[in-house]
Parts: sequence; C-alpha cells; structure tokens
Amino acid sequence: MLKVGVLISGRGSNMQALIAACDAVTFPASIACVISNKPDAKGLEHAKAAHIPTAVISHKDYADKQSFEAAIDAMFETHGVQLICLAGFMRILSPWFTEQWRDRLVNIHPSLLPAFPGLHTHRKVLDYGGKLTGCTVHFVRAEMDHGPIILQAAVPVLNGDDEETLAARVLRAEHQAYPAALRMIAENRVNVIEEKTFIADAAASGDAFYNPKS
Ligand code: GRF
Repeated sequence: MLKVGVLISGRGSNMQALIAACDAVTFPASIACVISNKPDAKGLEHAKAAHIPTAVISHKDYADKQSFEAAIDAMFETHGVQLICLAGFMRILSPWFTEQWRDRLVNIHPSLLPAFPGLHTHRKVLDYGGKLTGCTVHFVRAEMDHGPIILQAAVPVLNGDDEETLAARVLRAEHQAYPAALRMIAENRVNVIEEKTFIADAAASGDAFYNPKS
C-alpha cells in the first residue's frame, strides 16, 4: 500500500478524486496526510471529513522558501509518505525539494503539456484556437509544469466554449486521470528512463492515454 501525501492550496477537487479512489479496498494506495499552505483552503474540510490527517503549513509563517519546504518535507516524513501528489498547490517548489522527492512527486496540469504551461491555461487554449486539450499527470522537475509525463487525457474544445465550460470538461477528465496515474505508480508500473516514463505491461500501456467521454 503506497502512502501518499497531498499538497493543496484551494478547492481540492483533485484531492477528493484521489481520496475517493483510495477508499476502494482494492486500490493500492492510501492518503496519509494532506497539507495546505492556505488555512482557508476548502479542500481541508473535505480531507478532515474523510478522517485524513491534515496540516496547514503557511509560507507566510516562514522566513524563506527553504524553511517552508523543510517543514512540508518533515511533516510528510512523519506520516511515512512515499509519494507526494500536488493537487492545485499554488507555490513553485525549489530545486532542493524537487530533487529530494525526485520521481516521488507528481503534479496534474490542465493542458496537454508541453502546450500551455502556467496559469490561465484554458484562456490560452481558447485564444489560440486549439481543438483538443486535456490534462497531464507528470513527475515534477524544478522547471514549472515540466517533467516526465505519466498519463495524458484528451478532451475536445467545442464551439461556444468559454473558460468555464472548457475548465469543467477538463476537470472531469482530471478526476479520472489522476487516480488512474496514481494506480499505475502504486502498482510499480511506471519507470523513468532518461526523463521519459515507460509503463510496464505492454498490453496495458494504453493506460497512459485516456479519452474520457465529455
Ligand atoms: C486543477 O485544474 C489542476 O489541474 C491545477 O489546479 C486545479 C486545481 O483544482 N493544477 P482542484 O483544487 O483540484 O479542484
């Protein structure tokens, strides 16, 4: 059973999807601890209701990024965390942290990386006129929204979409993609070789691509 720590800053709907997946008896991971850097993050309430240990570690309480990240690191170590999932965590992590947790730290981004990294993703897709977008689960490297891709899910951009409708369609895909990626990792099927992932079990390697109905 892989012990997972989740870092959030807000709503935490991806965290909820991970919690729901881990609730299934056959799922090979469990959520050991949820940390938010924001005391008022909505996701904290849901984690508490699910009886998951939570902590608020606010960057505002630390003199510098290094001590803030050391506190997060220590809290996850205390809970025996083996893998960290970023789920709407809005701080950029330092190279120290990303190296400390190299290949044990994953993120979900609401586009098909390397297209449209950064904020305001859906607006950028609409402005560009993209016809296909989606989400990417990837191992985290120091460079933002960058690192070996574990799984991608694609959804269409439809006529008449605005940021809200597109974000909602992508989010539904995220809620399927993140637990699916976590399952592959927890089953030890994801290997990183020369900054690319290879999914063990060739017959099932289609698991790394999702095309959810929207
Ligand atoms: C998601 O769209 C995720 O891809 C991005 O931030 C958003 C977080 O939403 N990194 P939530 O807090 O999981 O609901």
